[in-house]
Amino acid sequence: MDQPLQPVCTFSQRAQQLTSSAIREILKVTERPEVISFAGGLPAPSGFPVEVVRAAFDKVLAENGRAALQYGPTEGYAPLRKWVAEDLNRAGANVTPDQILIVSGSQQALDLLGKVLIDDGSKVLVEDPSYLGALQSFSLYQPTFVPVPTDDGGLVPEAITPELAAGARFLYALPNFQNPTGRTLSLERRKALVQRAAELGLPIVEDDPYGELRYAGEPQPGLLALGKDCGANVIRLGSFSKVLAPGLRLGYIAAHRSIIDKLVQAKQATDLHTPTLTQMAVYEVVKDGFLTTHLPTVRELYRVQGRCMLDALAREFPDTVKWTVPEGGMFLWVTLPDHIDSTKLLAQAIEQNVAFVPGAPFYAGKAQTNTLRLSFVTVPEEKIRAGVAILGKLIKQYA
Ligand SMILES: Cc1ncc(COP(=O)(O)O)c(C=O)c1O
Repeated sequence: MDQPLQPVCTFSQRAQQLTSSAIREILKVTERPEVISFAGGLPAPSGFPVEVVRAAFDKVLAENGRAALQYGPTEGYAPLRKWVAEDLNRAGANVTPDQILIVSGSQQALDLLGKVLIDDGSKVLVEDPSYLGALQSFSLYQPTFVPVPTDDGGLVPEAITPELAAGARFLYALPNFQNPTGRTLSLERRKALVQRAAELGLPIVEDDPYGELRYAGEPQPGLLALGKDCGANVIRLGSFSKVLAPGLRLGYIAAHRSIIDKLVQAKQATDLHTPTLTQMAVYEVVKDGFLTTHLPTVRELYRVQGRCMLDALAREFPDTVKWTVPEGGMFLWVTLPDHIDSTKLLAQAIEQNVAFVPGAPFYAGKAQTNTLRLSFVTVPEEKIRAGVAILGKLIKQYA
């Protein structure tokens, strides 16, 4: 057994309260090849357009190598910023390229937002449950999380009362195929949310890495687009991780110029800028509409995998278990009967070489310990069936 490492430095108070994420610990176990893991949050590698990306890097290096290997502006590569702005405007927003900051994945956006918007004890409203990586990022800046109730339709706008929102720095919202629940906010709720946020002067951070991965239902306008009509202050985060590949580490923030200016100062201190070569190569990939032909393939892959898991759940899980039916993205959320603790279930599942993520760490408020997240996109169909059958048997033991 490994001995804990003795610190050889005095860590800052901020560092002392850092802990390894529950998911990271679980993923260590799931690296064993015999484990069927529904725990990961990784996109399916079969959807990565390897050859297209390779050709783009080749072309950029061959035609513009010296510029690609040089430092670049903190704000990002100008043609890519313009492309992002135009893409958002096609979806109903009204932004200019100088309202776009290119970042090293939307995870960096979360950290930068924490840096510039959160003081010790600042109120930050979060959906309950919410994306664990955001809770971790924001936690470094020591906010007071205020959980906003959710139901089967996601975040409940009416729950954001003036008292709840008073003094809050922002609301962190995931309107499409939420991580972890897979839920999507209806058009009615989106409109109500931006309206309410505008009235209350509450900025919204809209995190939408999965929006392009819709395989059922009707596409809904984003909060940034809806917010423009009622004057809501929406800061939108987007990512190339799920539409191209996460190893590129490329995302963006779209926001009011004054917010972008402050974020640029924070990013300068963090890493000067996002890699020039990657930005130029990704621009090369997307500029002539590659995503319009590529995304249908990824959506179809995820739809088939998701269908396979939903069918397996219906076959193997007892009637007392409920789950979400996502219209896109990579996750679904399972609610077990109240008396089953999913962390205990995980220990038993791992003994039988199946892994998932228990729901508790995703809650900023009181954790519902009878919940869990299943990811279906990286597991082959026969393993989805086998893994769900094992989980079903374990759950039935508690009935
Ligand atoms: C909701 C959400 N936001 C942000 C991220 C970070 O994505 P990236 O930094 O790869 O853009 C993820 C990653 O899984 C996510 O699920």
